[in-house]
This record gives sequence, C-alpha cells and structure tokens, in this order.
Amino acid sequence: MNEDVSSRLSAAVDKVSVGRVYDYLLGGTHNYAVDQAFAEAQLAVLPEIRDFARANRAFLGRAVRFMVARGIRQFVDIGSGLPTQGNVHEVADRAAPGQCRVVYIDNEPIARAHAQILLEQTADPLRHTALDADFFDRDRLWNRVLATRLIDPREPVGLLLVALLHFMPDERNPHEVLEYYRSQLPPGSLLALSHIHVDPGDEETQHAGRQVAQEYQRRTNHAAIMRNRAEIAAFFGDLPLVEPGLVWLPQWRPGNALDDDPAQARGLAGVARVG
Ligand SMILES: C[S@@+](CC[C@H](N)C(=O)[O-])C[C@H]1O[C@@H](n2cnc3c(N)ncnc32)[C@H](O)[C@@H]1O
Repeated sequence: MNEDVSSRLSAAVDKVSVGRVYDYLLGGTHNYAVDQAFAEAQLAVLPEIRDFARANRAFLGRAVRFMVARGIRQFVDIGSGLPTQGNVHEVADRAAPGQCRVVYIDNEPIARAHAQILLEQTADPLRHTALDADFFDRDRLWNRVLATRLIDPREPVGLLLVALLHFMPDERNPHEVLEYYRSQLPPGSLLALSHIHVDPGDEETQHAGRQVAQEYQRRTNHAAIMRNRAEIAAFFGDLPLVEPGLVWLPQWRPGNALDDDPAQARGLAGVARVG
C-alpha cells in the first residue's frame, strides 16, 4: 500500500471494513489483516463470494462503457468503495478520453480517504472528486453532488449503485430513497445497479448465504440483505430496463461467450433508462 495512505489510515486497522473486504476479494492491496481474516472465513462458508466480487466489478466496467457509448459524460457512483482496479473514471476516460466527470460517494470515511488520495495521484481534480456521504441522507447527498459543479443537473447522468443496495435494510426504506434519486435524473440518464442474489431453488447456497450475511451483520459496520428478484427489480421503479434486463451479473452484455454457470456469480444486475 502507498505509504501516505497507510500513515493517514493507520487508525482504522482493527475493525472489519466492507470496502476493504471487497478489495481483498478482488485481489487488491488496500486491506488489513482483520479484513483478510474475515474474508477468508466467509470464503470458507461460501467460496462464490469471490466470483461475485469479480463478476460485479466486471459488470461495473461494462455498464460504464455502455453509458459512455450512449452519450453519458457525467457519473455519480454511490457506494463507490475503495479505489481498486477498473475505477469508473479510468473506464470512462479510456472510452472518452478527457471528457467524463465523476463524483464518487461512500459513507466509510476510510474509503473516501483512500479515494481522495488516489484521485490526487491518478485523476484529474477538475473532473473527478470523492465525497464522504450517506445514501440515506438523500437531499444533502444530492445537494453536495451538485455543489461540486461537476454534475450538470440538465444533462443525462450515469447513476451507479453497484453492490450497494444489499447493505440497505428494508426498515430504512431504500426503495423510497432510490425513488428520490431517480426523480433527480433528467431524461436520457441511465441507472445501473447490482445486488447479491441466490437462486431460490438452491437451498444449500441460500443457507450459506444467510450465514455469511449474519457474519457481515455481526462483524462489519453493514448488514447484508438477501432479496428476491422482484424486490431487486423494484429498485428500478417504473423505469424501463435496457436489454437484456435484470440478469445474472455475467449475463449483462458480456463481451464473450460465457464458460461458467452465470448463477455462480450470486448476483443480479441491470441498467434502466430515464425518459
Ligand atoms: C461492496 S462495495 C462496492 C464498490 C463498488 N460500487 C463496486 O461495485 O465495485 C460497497 C460500498 O458501499 C459502501 N456503503 C455501504 N453503505 C453505504 C451508505 N449508506 N452510503 C454510502 N455508501 C455506503 C461501503 O462503504 C462500501 O465501500
């Protein structure tokens, strides 16, 4: 890990962080022993959580490239996590060099601190920034996004909530909160989301999934919520999904033919269009 990052973040090494666990699952280096031990314990129960992380990150990249191809030049990434491989600004910049603006948002100060430092080193401060804000704090979060002046509310936005919503318990009304964000998006905007999911017929994996979810609840600052397909689809409200709809992560516009069973990725993903 970068020395500057290490010294600025050394205070947070004793608590498991979902962002760092995810980074570990992806093969990243922005994680500590406590995160590695937690991830390994979950992998022993449900080895596919690594497949989920990889397939999810690959979906994020394909969704951003799709959005750029559809003319989107500004992105809001809520629950962006630690900067790892294939960050939104990197993918967007490769697709449309020098043209895209990105606001990263995470509620873990540690994720935001990593993002800010690495953005200082790798990104264009005139086009990319990171905010420490909470999904549930909707008006404040959106006002802060607009206050960056990187997002023009009259132009289509690419809104990303990738591997975020399964940390949102129903009692906090995440569907309603997302409705607020959808209502802020001008016509032509695109909303991408992904969510953990296990085939309801696969009882063994359902059981292992519940065990892992309970451990996340017990040990991390976030609960993990299993939802069925209809509950995940409801996050799009009445927005029409672009083809191929809500599908297993690897099935969303894959570049190549799929070798493995896509349900192994244990997550669903989709992109919907506003207006
Ligand atoms: C698994 S990571 C996903 C990273 C990235 N979106 C991706 O899919 O590659 C989930 C992130 O959501 C963040 N998160 C969880 N609850 C949040 C909330 N209420 N508001 C903002 N971010 C949140 C966590 O801190 C974590 O970094």
